[in-house]
Amino acid sequence: MKRILVTGGLGFIGSHTVVELQSAGFNVVIIDDLSNTTIDVLDNITEITGIKPEFHQIDLRIKNEVTSFFDNNTIDGIIHFAAFKAVGESVHQPLDYYENNIGSLVYLLQEMKNRKLDNFIFSSSCTVYGQAVELPITENAPIKPAESPYGNTKQIGEEIIKESCNAYTLNAIALRYFNPIGGHDSIKIGELPLGVPQNLIPFITQTAAGIRKELSVFGNDYPTKDGTAIRDYIHVVDLAKAHIAALKRLINKNNKNNFEFFNVGTGKGSSVLEVINTFENVSGKKLNYKIVGRREGDITAAYADTTIANKELNWKTEKTLDEALESAWKWQLKQH
Ligand code: UD1
Repeated sequence: MKRILVTGGLGFIGSHTVVELQSAGFNVVIIDDLSNTTIDVLDNITEITGIKPEFHQIDLRIKNEVTSFFDNNTIDGIIHFAAFKAVGESVHQPLDYYENNIGSLVYLLQEMKNRKLDNFIFSSSCTVYGQAVELPITENAPIKPAESPYGNTKQIGEEIIKESCNAYTLNAIALRYFNPIGGHDSIKIGELPLGVPQNLIPFITQTAAGIRKELSVFGNDYPTKDGTAIRDYIHVVDLAKAHIAALKRLINKNNKNNFEFFNVGTGKGSSVLEVINTFENVSGKKLNYKIVGRREGDITAAYADTTIANKELNWKTEKTLDEALESAWKWQLKQH
């Protein structure tokens, strides 16, 4: 049984990936510093799969703790989620973002190099493309200068991994996520935003639940069908499954290059108003919202061309926007 380290394994995407890894027969060990989640998630994962993953509370910025973990553990692959992810916050605290997102990545790769470990999966983001000229966005679209320190950590992260793959005996895949939403069917794990949500879906569900007064729709003067911005919203369980596919590709040595990157989205773009309408349909709740000005740094439209990911990873999304929003709503209702 292959033993896989999942860093940030108690976070939103991490926890869903742990469930899918266990279901696929992998032995999972989680590292999380609990900075943006709670230990309950470990029990909730256990309730879903019947298997309690091994857990280590480690801050990956503390090098000797990372080294000591690897001294005591044999690992066949790493899926690295642990990172800060708030775009706005990163603008005000860039050094925290570089220290955490880049520092921990370097420490992990050093341990892999020193111990000749292989098979590394990295959480990247479609943010690396900025506003792409051509839609849908293929993996060949140029990388644009990052709009935020957060986005920069994803770009630099990919560079560091690529150069490490070239220099050492390392194989890695970066998955460029589009917009992950929704939660597990069991309603035992989901997204747990701290404070006021910055992302659209948790803001919608909290507004519908009465926690927020109204949703602000950021701009209706974009050059899109209804004037609101377009994104590719992917169900987090579909996204989690892409990690299993990528991991198997590396373990089975089916990768074509030592460093590869794939777009992980549905291929379908939805506008903010379409998301609101779909949410109202699946929840039966009327959403209180108003149109306000554009949010700084937002792009008009981003959705994935998934042709390469579908073919190379032998993976495709199975869930609809309706299902994703319904699961997000059920999860919200459970929080009361
Ligand atoms: C954002 C980040 C992206 C990051 C991702 C992580 C920016 C510019 N991009 O993506 O780099 O990887 O989060 O989850 O911050 N919207 C509203 N009202 C709201 C919230 C959002 O109208 O209260 C709109 C936004 O303008 C956007 C869409 O909803 O058009 C999606 O927003 P969001 O969920 O924040 O994701 P992104 O901005 O696409």
